[in-house]
Amino acid sequence: MWAQTATLPMNVILAPSQKALTPHLEIRGGRRLEGEIRVSGAKNSALVLMAACLLSSDDLKLRNMPALSDIQGMGEILESLGVTMNRGEGFVELNASGLNQSSPPYELVNGLRASFFCIGPLLARTGVARVPLPGGCQIGARPVVEHVKGLKALGAQVTIEHGVVSAVVPGRGHRLTGGKIHLDCPSVGATETLMMAAALADGETTIENAAQEPEVVDLAGLIIAMGGKVRGAGTPTITIVGMERLHGADYMVIPDRIEAGTLLLAGAITRSKLRITPLIPEHLGAVLSKLEEAGCTLESDGIGMTISADRVRAVDLRTQPFPGFPTDLQAPFMSLLATAEGTSVITEAIFENRLQHVAELQRMGAAIRTQGNTAFIEGVPFLSGAPVTGSDLRASAAMVLAGLAAEGTTLVQGLKHLDRGYDRLEEKLRSVGASIERHDVG
Ligand code: EPU
Repeated sequence: MWAQTATLPMNVILAPSQKALTPHLEIRGGRRLEGEIRVSGAKNSALVLMAACLLSSDDLKLRNMPALSDIQGMGEILESLGVTMNRGEGFVELNASGLNQSSPPYELVNGLRASFFCIGPLLARTGVARVPLPGGCQIGARPVVEHVKGLKALGAQVTIEHGVVSAVVPGRGHRLTGGKIHLDCPSVGATETLMMAAALADGETTIENAAQEPEVVDLAGLIIAMGGKVRGAGTPTITIVGMERLHGADYMVIPDRIEAGTLLLAGAITRSKLRITPLIPEHLGAVLSKLEEAGCTLESDGIGMTISADRVRAVDLRTQPFPGFPTDLQAPFMSLLATAEGTSVITEAIFENRLQHVAELQRMGAAIRTQGNTAFIEGVPFLSGAPVTGSDLRASAAMVLAGLAAEGTTLVQGLKHLDRGYDRLEEKLRSVGASIERHDVG
C-alpha cells in the first residue's frame, strides 16, 4: 500500500500546467488601456554614456537614468576598474580619477555585451586595455571585428588570445593617433567605441559609414559637454578632434525610443488610446510610419504622442540600421501584426537569429510561418493566453504585448531578459488599466 504523504514521490512527472514556474508575469488579457505612460531614459544610451566616464578624471553626472539590471551590471564593471559610483533616484554620479585597472573580469563582462564599450575609453586614457570577448547571445554572433579594425587604424596593437582582446598603444606617450576609419557595416557599438577612443587621440579622426542611431548622437552630445569636438553625429560621416583631456559633465540621457515604441504597440494591440511621453518623433520615424500604415492614429503634441487604434491592418517591414525600422522593435511589432487583418511579411535583416519569438507566439494561437529570416504572419481574430518564455529582451516584451491582447491568462517567463531593458514595465502598464502581476517564485 502507498503511504499517504504530503510530498510527491521523486519520480512523479508534473503536467506542464503544474510545473513550478520561474519568476513570471501573470497577465489577464483583453482589457482596454487608457491614460498616459512615462518613458524612461534610453538603456542603450545610458550604457555607453556610463563607459564614457573613463575618458576623464572629473565627475560625470548622468540624469534620466533607467532602473535596469544592465545599468547595475555596467556600474559593477566600472567599479571593478576603480571608478567610484553613487546612484540615486534617476541619476548616477561616476568618477574615474582612481582608475587602476585596465581589465574588467570575465564574470562581469560575460553577462553584459555592452561592457565591451570600455575598451575604447580605457585605451584612450591609459594606453592599454584587456577586455574579455563577451561572446554571442541568443540573437546572433555579435562580432567585434569593426571595433578592433578601427582601434588599429588609430594606432593600437590589438591581439585576441584565449578569449581576451588585448590592446596597447605603442610609443612613449601611449596616445592614440587620429585616423581615417571606414566601417564595413554601420555598427552602433563600433561607432561608439571608436568615437570614445578618438576623443582623446592626437589629431582628427573620421569615421565613415558610421551608425546614425540617436544613441550615437547622444554620445556625441556628452563628449561635447565634456569639452570634446565632434561633428556629423547622426550622419554617415563623423569627425572627432582629439583633446589632451576631457572634463566632467552633467548630462541628461535621451528618452528610450525602443521603450516608447513598445508602449505605443501596447496601445495598438489592445485597440486603445494611450499617451506616451516623452517621445521624440524623429527617433521613431520608421515605426510611426508603419503604425499609421497599419491604421493607427498618431497625434504628436510636442512632448508626447497619443496613439488610438481600432482596426489594425497587415503591413510589411524589414529591419534596417537607423533611420530604418529598428531590429529592437521587430518582435514587439510582430505581436501586433499577429492580430491584424491580412497577411504581413517581416524580414529580420540585422541579426541572424532574432525570430525565436515566433514559436512562442504560435503557442498563443498566432498563424506565422517562417522561411529563413522572413516571417509570414496571417492575422488571427484573437490570441489565446498560454505560458510562454521570452528568449531575449525584445522577445520578452513581445510576449507581454501578446498577453495584453490575448483571451485568458498568459504567464510570461524569462524576466531576467525583460528586467535588463524595461524599467518597471508591469507597473507602468498596470497604471493604465492592464491586469499584470509579477510572481517572483513559482
Ligand atoms: N556587426 C558586424 N561586425 C562588427 C560589429 C557588428 O558584422 O564588428 C554586425 C552584427 O553582427 C549585426 C549588425 O552588425 O548584424 C549590427 O550590430 P551592431 O554592432 O550595430 O549592434 P550592437 O552595437 O552590438 C546595439 C544595441 C542593440 C541593437 C543593435 C542594432 C547596445 C548596447 N545594443 O548593439 O540593442 O539591437 O545596436 O540596433 O547599444 C537591445 O537593446 O535589445 C539590443 C540588442
